[in-house]
Amino acid sequence: MTSPRTTNLSLVDTDPAELAVDAIVIGVHSQPGEQGATSGLAGTLLLASGAESIAAAFDGKLTETLALLGATGGPGEVIKLATLGTVTAPLVAAVGLGPEPSGAAPAPETLRRAAGSAIRALAGASKVALALPLPDDSDASAELRAVAEGALLGGYRFAGYKTRPQPTRREPVAEVLVAVPDAGDAGAQAEVVRAQVVADAVRLTRDWVNTAPNELRPPSFADAVADAARAAGLGVEVLDEAALAAGGYGGIVAVGQGSEAPPRLVKLTYTPEGGGNGKRVALVGKGITFDTGGISIKPAQGMWEMKSDMGGAAAVGAAMLAIAALKPTVAVSAYLPMAENMPSGTSYRPGDVITMFNGKRVEVLNTDAEGRMVLGDAIARACADGTDYLFETSTLTGGQVVALGKRVAGVMGTPELCERVQVAGDAVGEPAWPMPLPEDVRKGMESDVADISQVNAGMDRAGHMLQGGVFLREFVTDDVAWAHIDIAGPSYHSGEPTGYWTKGGTGVPVRTLVQLVEDVAANG
Ligand code: BES
Ligand code: MN
Ligand code: ZN
Repeated sequence: MTSPRTTNLSLVDTDPAELAVDAIVIGVHSQPGEQGATSGLAGTLLLASGAESIAAAFDGKLTETLALLGATGGPGEVIKLATLGTVTAPLVAAVGLGPEPSGAAPAPETLRRAAGSAIRALAGASKVALALPLPDDSDASAELRAVAEGALLGGYRFAGYKTRPQPTRREPVAEVLVAVPDAGDAGAQAEVVRAQVVADAVRLTRDWVNTAPNELRPPSFADAVADAARAAGLGVEVLDEAALAAGGYGGIVAVGQGSEAPPRLVKLTYTPEGGGNGKRVALVGKGITFDTGGISIKPAQGMWEMKSDMGGAAAVGAAMLAIAALKPTVAVSAYLPMAENMPSGTSYRPGDVITMFNGKRVEVLNTDAEGRMVLGDAIARACADGTDYLFETSTLTGGQVVALGKRVAGVMGTPELCERVQVAGDAVGEPAWPMPLPEDVRKGMESDVADISQVNAGMDRAGHMLQGGVFLREFVTDDVAWAHIDIAGPSYHSGEPTGYWTKGGTGVPVRTLVQLVEDVAANG
């Protein structure tokens, strides 16, 4: 089930006061220093650049009026004001940007969230113009990209399964115009195209994550990814349960054997025209279409969110579609191991010893640590195919959420590559933080009978996120730089919509993966 792209975006450079749209969005800053000062209500508010002509049409009374309506300029706040003929659009929406920045324009992530908040708040309008503060130099690419992405993602809505139309539900904004100094500028237009490609990938990831788990099981998920990839011109190889067993993918087979919906491994390849820059990138994503825990079953409370346990594979698959469209000069292969972790008479069990794709033997202690079983095989296969950089992402551990929360991903692996992930994440607004792989954690995973146990041998949960990273390291060959990105928290948003995040799948870390591939294409 996928939601059609409902938001169209283009650039405009005419005066926002004269635009025939349903609403104009302007930015307002808060001035916390002056709170409570005697300068009156308006003293705490500051119009952002981009709003000049609208302010002029209001005869200098715009700030005062917005303050009267309760505007504070706080992030996420949207205050709507009927224009009563002062400007062409019938509505002005002032979106809070927080304190005025010291530089030329607010940080890209501030703009991305503001654009998302504004477009969400204006659902029901069909055409909206964004007159937000952008630096006026022509290479304001990061800021323009952020505004465009925020608008397109804030306009996302999952189609859902309701059988009756919802009369009170307002439709997402259909058309967004972004006010820029020069709408004909080739660089600016390229940013819009890129933002559309990337936002489409994020939206598709959200759709796959939000799809009910009875509708997205390994075979149908593999088909959906393979069909989209073929249409995008990528190379596609799908291993079914027989091919996985014959190929020695013990981890994927073990996790998948408890379900009547059999496991898959999907491999996608992007080959750059002209051979690329000689580097090879591998992307690996965890595709557990539902994680009950298996025989080590999870408690009922919150188990439904484990429909999102394929968020890593969804992000990797969708990022490959973006890569096929953006055509970076580097070779990229993607590996998506898919399985449904179910308890049944055919399930794998605690105590089982599994021979993995690289020949290592693993003692299973907890069938709920299934992600590392399927990923170990997929990582080993990626290394066997040959790669220089390997980025793997997975909803791997609740320990990631405990350690870093719901916004910041945990990164483990080759230190330089972890740093590169952190830098890329910062650039796109998907924060990620490097974590260590301590020797004592590996010692705690010594098995009495096999090469390694799947978790701490005494089931001690200390350093639980790090155990995942330490385990996965066993499947990376020495010549490969790798990074494991644990997205258990940031891939799924269970709270109310905020900024450009809607409820459910967030699409993290699609934008980081695309950024990393472009980084390797440009810098090796
Ligand atoms: N899919 C879960 C991790 C998870 C938890 C993702 C919360 C998103 C939100 C994973 O397969 C799992 O069950 N991990 C266990 C590991 C343990 C058995 C070593 C966990 O986190 O408790
Ligand atoms: Mn699990
Ligand atoms: Zn899982």
